[in-house]
Amino acid sequence: MSEPAIEVYENEQRKFVPSAAFAAQANTSDRSLYDEAEADYEAFWARQARELLSWDADFETTLNWKLPFAHWFVGGKLNVSYNCLDRHVEAGRGDKVAYHWEGEPGDKVTLTYSELLTEVKKFANVLKSLGLQKGDRVAIYMPMILELPIAMLACTRIGVAHSVIFGGFSADAIVDRCNDAETKLIITADAGFRKGSAALLKPTVDAALDIGAPSVEKVIVANRCDTNPEMVEGRDLWWHDLMADASPDCPAEPMDSEQLLYLLYTSGTTAKPKGIMHTTGGYLTQVAFSHKYIFDLKPETDVYWCAADIGWVTGHSYIVYGPLTNGCTSVMYEGTPDTPNKDRFWEIIERYGVTQLYTAPTAIRMFMKWGTEEPARHDLTSLRVLGTVGEPINPEAWMWYHDNIGGGERPIVDTWWQTETGGHMIAPMPGVTETKPGSACGAIPGVFVDLVDDGGNVVTEGGGYLTISRPWPSMLRGIWGDEERYRETYWSTYEGRYFAGDGAKLDADGYLWLLGRVDDVMNVSGHRISTTEVESALVGHPAVAEAAVVGGNDDLTGQAIIGYVILRGTHEASQELGDEIRAHVGDKLGKIARPKTVVIVPDLPKTRSGKIMRRLLRDVADGRSLGDTTTLADPAVVQEIADRASAGEDD
Ligand code: PRX
Repeated sequence: MSEPAIEVYENEQRKFVPSAAFAAQANTSDRSLYDEAEADYEAFWARQARELLSWDADFETTLNWKLPFAHWFVGGKLNVSYNCLDRHVEAGRGDKVAYHWEGEPGDKVTLTYSELLTEVKKFANVLKSLGLQKGDRVAIYMPMILELPIAMLACTRIGVAHSVIFGGFSADAIVDRCNDAETKLIITADAGFRKGSAALLKPTVDAALDIGAPSVEKVIVANRCDTNPEMVEGRDLWWHDLMADASPDCPAEPMDSEQLLYLLYTSGTTAKPKGIMHTTGGYLTQVAFSHKYIFDLKPETDVYWCAADIGWVTGHSYIVYGPLTNGCTSVMYEGTPDTPNKDRFWEIIERYGVTQLYTAPTAIRMFMKWGTEEPARHDLTSLRVLGTVGEPINPEAWMWYHDNIGGGERPIVDTWWQTETGGHMIAPMPGVTETKPGSACGAIPGVFVDLVDDGGNVVTEGGGYLTISRPWPSMLRGIWGDEERYRETYWSTYEGRYFAGDGAKLDADGYLWLLGRVDDVMNVSGHRISTTEVESALVGHPAVAEAAVVGGNDDLTGQAIIGYVILRGTHEASQELGDEIRAHVGDKLGKIARPKTVVIVPDLPKTRSGKIMRRLLRDVADGRSLGDTTTLADPAVVQEIADRASAGEDD
């Protein structure tokens, strides 16, 4: 394992105490939830499950734990869409707004809980009419439009598991995911608006099906941008045609607590993404609990906004399942923060009176670059709690968020978690915890985190590897179709512990400072990208003989992908070839995985045993300002690599 490249800020001394006014109104303002969970964490989670969710049949056993396999709330039956929708409507809250949706061009739709329920029932009937049954998997490849949560919730109504594929991914990524999960259906849209124009999706689905995903029988297409896509007869169906004939009656089927809810693919240390499995009762309990307490949610009055994309786990848990289970009003936004202007976020907050904003450090650093004038032009006083997720937040960004968005007083919750953990794991409680800028503070109630050293011994102060020592309700239940990989990836490094893949430090006050990944996974703008995956895409280019990828430091995106390549045979290094190689990776994996820089080198530095000296390559990348599109065949870089390799410098 290599050391994380990220700086640590544990000398940060500033502390921010929740204000008396905030604490007085907070959902919790003392340590009682922590104490309760500490005393008996199973009983604690059982209480949360019963209080936050509606069950068709109560569970008999809270936790059945046969390491590394957990079953939570065994014997219980419930339906996710019932918990997210019907029960709020039945309680007379059907006219409450579920989503204030805003398209990038400025079109707006307000959808109430009862309207959303009707759409979900109709679409569940559409799924049934296409022959989908409990246990089947469907892929969803959509922009941030309301049809996306409607499709997800319709799946949950009848026990179909969804596999949402981020709309920025490529045809190959769709093929891999559909083939791995043997999905029968792809739900997509013609396109979505991004940066002022229609970003096409349907042609990418067509390309994927041309490459080959034999399990896919049908494609449902929502019309978002009127791009008039080609529709393949007998295979492709319009969303609006199907919905026109669909009945609005569809009972929510009670599911076992451990029924598969969804798969979400994430990058690991190999070239093949892992299908992370989440199930029903435990997942919904933890996302509802954390959404309520970490954001201090007041469903009656709050207007909550998670500005992530539903294509990632943050959107699954904190745009769809947590907020709807808690019956709150959310904002959902289709586009980018600088379209048409750089104050789009602040304008949205002012328009809807947003009370919680949940975004990523990368976005905050971008807002910093755009200047304080942008937020200053808007009334942001409705905000009560600010959240961040996805990567370590540097104290400067934290303070900027605090001062310029939070008016110098709103609590900031830095939430550490993963696709695999399903919900928040490490975060402050806004009415309880004194925060330090840059620290995610400590584990939430009911979650037990330890740092360990190389030998697996618990570290009480200083650096270590982040592990989780007891099962938690929203933990992944496995990797789809690969039990061995599940054991190996998460449970084999430290006996009896879940290994998160992150490094962290504990300061003398017991605060955790997350340091980033310690494996071959990069974090670019809060997105996980595997070095191996990018390397294999690079060597898939006919001119590339060998490649090594590292995550260099980047002021904006946290890490940036730097690819070092050796060319094959007679290929000559040139700017054009480098750009072509970068574009090739973008085509293979999706734009987010396109290297920022490709460095063409005559050789890659290796240890005597043949291991690529990654640390050296990373240091070289960090030591120079590698440009955005530049392809370097810079002799000075090559010389530096050669010199340092011969001096034997690496981890
Ligand atoms: O390295 C950690 C980082 O993101 C990884 C998980 O990525 P993903 O599964 O894509 O989920 C992202 C959204 C939950 C972690 O292993 N990470 C996530 N949140 C934080 C973080 N690193 C530091 N601080 C955070 N708050």
